[in-house]
Amino acid sequence: MTVRTIVTIPQPVLRRKAARVTDFGPDLQKLIDDMIDTMRAAPGVGLAAPQVGVSRRVIVVEYEDPEAGIPHQLYAVVNPEIVAFSKATEVGVEGCLSIPGIVGEVERALTVEVRGVDRRGRPFSLRPSGWLARIFQHEIDHLNGVLFTDRAARIERVSPAEAAEMDRV
Ligand code: CO
Repeated sequence: MTVRTIVTIPQPVLRRKAARVTDFGPDLQKLIDDMIDTMRAAPGVGLAAPQVGVSRRVIVVEYEDPEAGIPHQLYAVVNPEIVAFSKATEVGVEGCLSIPGIVGEVERALTVEVRGVDRRGRPFSLRPSGWLARIFQHEIDHLNGVLFTDRAARIERVSPAEAAEMDRV
């Protein structure tokens, strides 16, 4: 497994609509393993394939929040789609590994329903809420060339020390 370089704006790959995955062979398995390593090294809690320069519809998410009763979970989702958004929304402060040094307030659905397939092509579905739902929305936006700054109100600069305190995606 390999830590790949995280690409940052204004790399055009971050603005492209990523292609659906149809081949679940060794290249995809290696991509997912490398994305997990890259996310952990950053460190981050989510990463989309365009962030390592690969325009394919793949995301990884690793998250836990013991205080909210959310145990440690690691997801690799291929061809993910959000098929339902709650009407209820929440504003939260987001940053992005591909846009160093800034954060912004983004309004996101509180709960979403995510469908896709896992790394072997088996059906995957999940109904995350709260911060986990925010991570999935942020990562799936990346697959469509959308960055949090497109959705954010009140963008602010942060120092590297402040950025290190945040869950980065
Ligand atoms: Co991001």
